Amino acid sequence: MPSHYTYQIAAVNPIVTTPSRPPRPLLRYTVAMKYDLPSGVTLDEGRGGLPRVSVATDLCTAELYLHGAHLCRWQPRSHPHPVLWMSRASRFETGAPIRGGVPICFPWFGPNAAVPEAPPHGLARISEWTLDGAEVERDGTAVIRLSWPSDAGTRASVPAGVDLAYEVRLGDALSMALTVANSAAAPLRFEEALHTYFAVSDVRHVGVEGLAGATFVDKTDGGTRKTQDDAVVTISRETDRLYVNTPATLTLTDPGFGRRIRVAKTGSLASVVWNPWIAKSRAMSDFGDDEWPGMICIETANAAENAVTLPPAAGHTMTAVISLLGLSGSS
Ligand code: BG6
Repeated sequence: MPSHYTYQIAAVNPIVTTPSRPPRPLLRYTVAMKYDLPSGVTLDEGRGGLPRVSVATDLCTAELYLHGAHLCRWQPRSHPHPVLWMSRASRFETGAPIRGGVPICFPWFGPNAAVPEAPPHGLARISEWTLDGAEVERDGTAVIRLSWPSDAGTRASVPAGVDLAYEVRLGDALSMALTVANSAAAPLRFEEALHTYFAVSDVRHVGVEGLAGATFVDKTDGGTRKTQDDAVVTISRETDRLYVNTPATLTLTDPGFGRRIRVAKTGSLASVVWNPWIAKSRAMSDFGDDEWPGMICIETANAAENAVTLPPAAGHTMTAVISLLGLSGSS
């Protein structure tokens, strides 16, 4: 099986108009594969003409854009409700983040404290990644591997010698592993997040467990530090919390969809729980005004005091594993 793939993008197919037919869509890119992808995995042109890896196996369907290495869909065939949430207002364009799915935040989280005009959540989510390989394992799990090319202009924020690799495993469960390798001479300090948007039946009727006793930075209250007193985090207003110093597995219980979603992680000490509620939804141009009840973000992260400092010749991997459970806890 080939272990390496390259793709090439070329301008093709100018708009052709005939009097009797509407204009054909402009196919801005064609993707020419040097090697065949395994059965069940295709690389084509997705929304906005952006290169997209699609997966259709016995276990699941999925879509991953090379723009931001952004997973937009992962849907186990055995499950009736959407798992990842996508905004219908999302942009799919160069230089803009995709709204929904799993954006990758790197090398900073939220606004850049030193450069306020820099794009929030870093540059990895708005630059194009390279597809390094894809395979389907014997049990049907599709594995997609990507890297952030060192020659991308958007890498200006990261010193030479720092490499990012991303492995996504798509089956009955979803596993995402983001690895940062530092072969530069100096230590590297960075923040990161797998900013996962989950679809929920109604955010007002779900709960997140696993954070009891944890300290959080309440971004809706000027960054005040608070303690999570309730065993279950519920959402009844704008919620934007960075929980720190917690390696805990979190569980999202959604009675309306009859399921629990487990988020297990390694290499991560921070978790974020976010729902924009009414006013903030209206203020975001790529988020539908009425979409907030249908989503919640539970983000696997290292941020603020849990930023990673990576010595030279060292690597760091953060993983998030998403599994679907019944309400009683069985899968
Ligand atoms: C969350 C942050 O992770 O992402 C929020 O905690 C932020 O403060 C949200 O509003 C969305 O960020 P963005 O840049 O995608 O609009």
